[in-house]
Amino acid sequence: MSNFPKLFSPFKIGSMDIKNRIVMPAMETHLCDEEGFVTDEIISYYCERIIGGVGYVTVENTAIDPAGRLNDGMLCIHEDKFTPGFKKLCDEVHKFDGKIVVQLSHGGREALKYYTGLESVGPSALPSPLTKQTPRELSVDEIQDLVSKFADGAKRIHEAGADGIEIHMAHGYLVNQFLSPEANHRKDEYGGNVEKRTRFAVEIVKAIREKVPEDFPVICRISADEYTETGIKIEEGKTHAQTLEKAGASAIHVSACNSSSPFYNIPTYYLDEGCFTHLAEAVKKVVNVPIITVGRILGPEFAEKILEQGKADLVAFGRVLIGEPFMPEKARAGLLDEIRPCLSCNKCINSIMDRMLICTVNPDIGKETKIRNLPKAKPKKVLVVGGGPAGLSAADTAARRGHHVTLWEKEAELGGNFRFATLPPFKDPMKNLLQHLINKSYNENITVITEKEATVDAIKEFAPDAVIAAVGSNEVKLELPGSKDADIMDIKEAFLEVDKMGDNIMIVGAGPEGCELADFLSAAGKKITMIEMKRIIGMGLVAHPRYHIVERLKKAGVNMVISTKVIEIGKGYLVVQKRKGEPEKLEGFDHIIMSTLNKPNNELADAINDFVKEVHVVGDALSGRTALEAISEGSDAALKL
Ligand SMILES: Cc1cc2nc3c(=O)[nH]c(=O)nc-3n(C[C@H](O)[C@H](O)[C@H](O)COP(=O)(O)OP(=O)(O)OC[C@H]3O[C@@H](n4cnc5c(N)ncnc54)[C@H](O)[C@@H]3O)c2cc1C
Ligand SMILES: Cc1cc2nc3c(=O)[nH]c(=O)nc-3n(C[C@H](O)[C@H](O)[C@H](O)COP(=O)(O)O)c2cc1C
Ligand code: SF4
Repeated sequence: MSNFPKLFSPFKIGSMDIKNRIVMPAMETHLCDEEGFVTDEIISYYCERIIGGVGYVTVENTAIDPAGRLNDGMLCIHEDKFTPGFKKLCDEVHKFDGKIVVQLSHGGREALKYYTGLESVGPSALPSPLTKQTPRELSVDEIQDLVSKFADGAKRIHEAGADGIEIHMAHGYLVNQFLSPEANHRKDEYGGNVEKRTRFAVEIVKAIREKVPEDFPVICRISADEYTETGIKIEEGKTHAQTLEKAGASAIHVSACNSSSPFYNIPTYYLDEGCFTHLAEAVKKVVNVPIITVGRILGPEFAEKILEQGKADLVAFGRVLIGEPFMPEKARAGLLDEIRPCLSCNKCINSIMDRMLICTVNPDIGKETKIRNLPKAKPKKVLVVGGGPAGLSAADTAARRGHHVTLWEKEAELGGNFRFATLPPFKDPMKNLLQHLINKSYNENITVITEKEATVDAIKEFAPDAVIAAVGSNEVKLELPGSKDADIMDIKEAFLEVDKMGDNIMIVGAGPEGCELADFLSAAGKKITMIEMKRIIGMGLVAHPRYHIVERLKKAGVNMVISTKVIEIGKGYLVVQKRKGEPEKLEGFDHIIMSTLNKPNNELADAINDFVKEVHVVGDALSGRTALEAISEGSDAALKL
């Protein structure tokens, strides 16, 4: 029997038989083409998750109307010409015995005119808190036209062979805008009390029901609580669910938030595991249709507990399945250590602003079929230099391709600079990732040697066919007047020497590492001041973690001084200059800590280029960035061997 009997028990929503309780929720990939047609990349992306064992995948939000398209990376189903692409997608998923649901959506005031070329619309002419765009209020005729467009979209998806549809009624998009007292100030039959605000959603469900078979799953995804002062609260969320059930919904997918609370919707590592499950539990108590829960559910153990305690019927794993498509199969087989952990770092959601989905831990997105079908490589003797994320990722991919890999790390421990990423509060997911990468290097095709520095002579003697230089960056200390005699610590020393430090600390530079060090030191009881030249604290961090860390620093009483330049440094003091005004001396610090600059380390690669046939430089050695680039470049280099 499986370790997770509830999670791997079958279930049924309407006519859809599901082999287990694992749902992949809708998540934009931006792998469609610019017009919104299904591509081969999208097909391979969803099939990979089906092969990985998901009960059913929900295809990302798909526009039922051109004016509701959020951007040019959003799928479309507003005309018949889009149906064949979905048919191909559904057929492929069915070949792997999988189930597929497509999410239908309209962005309302969040769909930017800049992308659509069309006027943005909403229930009321109230600006979006996120985009600041003010929509035109829809007329009643237009509302009814949109109801028909949702129904037409559902009909096309049904004809394409999907197993169900989901209506996006959450996260601040059009249907949620109608449901919410915050975005809907209408005085007619579509606004005002709860009954009137739910009318649009109810009409959509009923109109869809008329165009698809009675038992075809029509799932409603709602924000049961908007996490704002004046928005939907759970008590009203429960009423929405009951009303939708009566209208003909087959299941309720309970999510949360709107565009006034965007930093909670896709919960980063500062928020609790299962942070919205209490909402699902509350909704489940008042309806009879199945309930799906979502929100930072990180693994099968937690999901099993949710099901055991009867808080939901199905569990959606979003980013976990972006990072590890094979999570369900590995969980079923008891291979929990093999599951590549998601960091909740939100680089994925950040990346789709730039067009295509990428992920810190999974470099294969959009290339799944290609990678699966790569011909076996001719085995080579490969030397990976450096045991940080780039080197560990390169070694793993090269070994999986059948090469004979040796990894040299000059330090006693593997992990490189990423070891420091694991130290600040709430960054346990980074610890899990590092451990996962290290575990992968215990492979019969990889020989790991620590405390071994790769010198030119050592490499000559080893005589590899190829070298992957994953040696990280060289640190260069920032020079300021007085800094030579000021006894300055760098960020890494500060992380390691916290126990020996005095209480009053100055951190120069409030970028990502500076902020995380401030959080780390203030959690250890230190009094912190930070000086930043720019106007923004935490610049370079992804928006979601940035919001939460700044809130934490504020709560901890960290003194954050912005738009201020350091013009002199001495023992325990700084002289600073604001944009305007006289220089000011700040003093009495037990320690002054300053970021270092990262300089790419290409010396080793340059020195071995003429006697090693193939040399690839990856990660911070190429340019100082993050683990995402390190892992992906390490893997790409290994695929080229
Ligand atoms: C405080 C801090 C917090 C961070 N937080 C995050 C975060 O939250 N998320 C994120 O994505 N990134 C974070 N980063 C950045 C991330 O750690 C780096 O981008 C990443 O470690 C780069 O990986 P890499 O393998 O290219 O280089 P490194 O991690 O620097 O690894 C290079 C390795 O090569 C070894 N080496 C060098 N020369 C030789 C040689 N000649 N022979 C043998 N071995 C050698 C080094 O000892 C080192 O172990 C953080 C960095 C710091 C300092
Ligand atoms: C990259 C990305 C894209 C998303 N796109 C959608 C979407 O198209 N429709 C939707 O309802 N939710 C979307 N979401 C929200 C997820 O469905 C899910 O609710 C959220 O990620 C929280 O679940 P998780 O913690 O399991 O990742 C998206 C999330 C991410 C990370
Ligand atoms: S980018 Fe980060 S949060 Fe998103 S799926 Fe990958 S690891 Fe998880």
